[in-house]
Amino acid sequence: MKKDFVSLADFTSEQLQTLIDKTIAAKPAYLQKQGPAPHARKTLAMIFEKPSLRTRVSFETAMTQLGGTATYLDQTAIGLGDREPARDIARVLGRMCDAIMARTFHHKIVEELAQNSAVPVVNGLTDYSHPCQAMADLVTIRERLGALKGKTVAFVGDGNNVARSLAVACAKLDMKFVLSSPAGYELEESFFETLLDEHPHADCSLIHEPGRAVQAADVVYTDTWVSMGQEQQRQDRIHTFQAYQVNEALMSFAPKHAMVLHCLPAYRGCEISEGVFEKHAEAIFNQAENRLHFQRTLLDELLTNGGIE
Ligand code: CP
Ligand code: NVA
Repeated sequence: MKKDFVSLADFTSEQLQTLIDKTIAAKPAYLQKQGPAPHARKTLAMIFEKPSLRTRVSFETAMTQLGGTATYLDQTAIGLGDREPARDIARVLGRMCDAIMARTFHHKIVEELAQNSAVPVVNGLTDYSHPCQAMADLVTIRERLGALKGKTVAFVGDGNNVARSLAVACAKLDMKFVLSSPAGYELEESFFETLLDEHPHADCSLIHEPGRAVQAADVVYTDTWVSMGQEQQRQDRIHTFQAYQVNEALMSFAPKHAMVLHCLPAYRGCEISEGVFEKHAEAIFNQAENRLHFQRTLLDELLTNGGIE
C-alpha cells in the first residue's frame, strides 16, 4: 500500500494502468452528474505556493463530486516553511482533514508533508514533477488512440517537471518517450540513468533536432519555456528556445495522425503557434478536463483505502 501520490516512480505499471482504467470507466457517470458521492464529510486541504487554474478547480470539483469538500490554503495565508514548518502543518492538517494536496517549489517539501502527515498527500506540481498531469495526459492519449503500449510521445521544449513525469509515465506504460530540448535544458543524465536502471526496457531518447524528434510521434507535447519560479530567466529562455516552437513547420515533419498536447497555460507565439494550438484545441481541452477525471479517481482510491493498493 502506498499512502501518498508524490512520484510516479513509487508505483508499479499495474497500479498506474488500473488508475487509468478506473478513470475511463468512471467518467461517463460523472459527466451525466450521476456518479457516486461516497465521501460525504471528508475534506481535502489544498496548499498552493504557486498560482493555478486547473489543479485548484479540478481537485475542488473532484471533492465536491465525491461528496466532500476542499479547502484552499495559499502561501500568504499559511506561510509554509516561514510562519510554520512543513512538518507541523502536515501534522495539523492530518488531524483535521482526510487528505492533503500540495503545489510547492521544492519537491522535498511535498515529501516532508507526506512523511509527517497521517493522511495521504498528493503532489499537485513541484519544480521536479507533475504526476497528476502525466496521468491525465495518458488518459487523454488512451481515449484518442485506443491504446498506450508502443505509442511515441515527443516532448519538444524545456526538460522540466512536466517532461520528467511524462517520461516516467511512458516508461511504466511501455510507451516511447523522445525529448527534444536545446543543449543545457534537457532532463539530467542521472534521471535517464535511474529510469533505465529501474525499467531496462524503457525506450527513451534525447534528440536535439526537433524535426527529427517528431518524425515517429503519435503525440507531440509541449509546455511553457518559462516555468513558475523562472520568470527572471524569461528573456534568455525565449531566445534559446526559438527553434523549439511547435508550429506548422515542425508539424510537417510529424506523422499526419499525430495529436498535439499541452498541459496549459499556453503561451502562443512562444512554445506553440496560434494555428497549431487552435487546430488541436479539442484534444488540449480534453486533456485539461481529464485532470478532473483522473484526480477524482485518485482521491476516491486514497479516501477509500488510505492509499493506493
Ligand atoms: N496544468 C496545470 O497544472 O495547470 P494549473 O497550473 O493551472 O494548475
Ligand atoms: N512547467 C510548468 C507547468 C505549469 C502547469 C510550470 O511549472 O510552471
